[in-house]
Amino acid sequence: MSTAGDFTGQWYEKDQRWTDVDHYAIKHLQQDPSLREALQNAKELAEREGLPNIEVSTLQGKFLALQAQLIGAKHILEVGTLGGYSAIWFASTGAHVTSVEINSHHKEVAEEAIREAGLSEQVDVVLGAGVDVLPRLRADVEAGTRAKFDLVFIDADKENNWTYFDQAIRMSRSRALIMVDNVVRRGTLANEKLAESESRVQGARRVVEAVGKDERVLESSLLQTVGEKNYDGFLVAVVR
Ligand code: DHB
Ligand code: MG
Repeated sequence: MSTAGDFTGQWYEKDQRWTDVDHYAIKHLQQDPSLREALQNAKELAEREGLPNIEVSTLQGKFLALQAQLIGAKHILEVGTLGGYSAIWFASTGAHVTSVEINSHHKEVAEEAIREAGLSEQVDVVLGAGVDVLPRLRADVEAGTRAKFDLVFIDADKENNWTYFDQAIRMSRSRALIMVDNVVRRGTLANEKLAESESRVQGARRVVEAVGKDERVLESSLLQTVGEKNYDGFLVAVVR
C-alpha cells in the first residue's frame, strides 16, 4: 500500500476508473516535453531517495499551475516542499516560488530536482517549520523587503492548516488565491465522530470552518477530486 493510501487505516478507498481517466487525460492533453521530463525526474529522484509518494498528482499539478497562470501570479508561497514536484509546476509558469520545508533531506532532494529542471533561479526552498518560517516571511513582507504573495499553496502538516492559512492571508495581496491540499481526505472531512480522534481530520475541519467565518476572505469553495491519488480535495479561497 502506498503511504498516501492510508489516511486512517480503515478509510482506504480506491477506484481503477479514477486512475484510468487520469492516465487517459495525461496522454491526450498537451504538456511541454521538457517540463514533463523534469517532473518525471523529480518523481524518480524522490522515490530513489525514499520520500513518501504523496506529491500532488500530475493533473492536480497542472491544475494548480493553471490557476497561477490565470491570476498572473508572480510570487507564490508553498508550505510543504516535499521533493519539489508542485514547486516545479508553479515555477513552470514563470512565477517565483518560496517553498517551506521542515525536513532537510526533503529540501536537498527538492533542490536537486529543481536544479535539474533548470528552475533554481525561480525557487527558494526555506528550511524550517512553517510555524517558525511563515512569521519571518510575514515580517519581511511588512518591512517591504519581500513582495506580497499572489498565491499560497498549503500542503504540509494538516494539524497546522489554519495557522498557515491565517499567516498566508496576512502576507498576501488583495484577491490572492489560497489553496489547501488534502482537506477532503476520502470523505472523512464530514465525519464528526472521526474528527474526535484523528488530528489530521480535525486540522482539515478547522481550516474549512475558520475560513467560512473569516472577514478577510472574500470567497471560498471546496473542490472534491478523484484520480490516481484516489479521493481528496482542495479548499480554495480568495483574499478580500
Ligand atoms: C498526506 C499528505 C499529503 O500532503 C497528501 O497530499 C497526501 C497524504 C499524508 O500525510 O498522508
Ligand atoms: Mg498534499
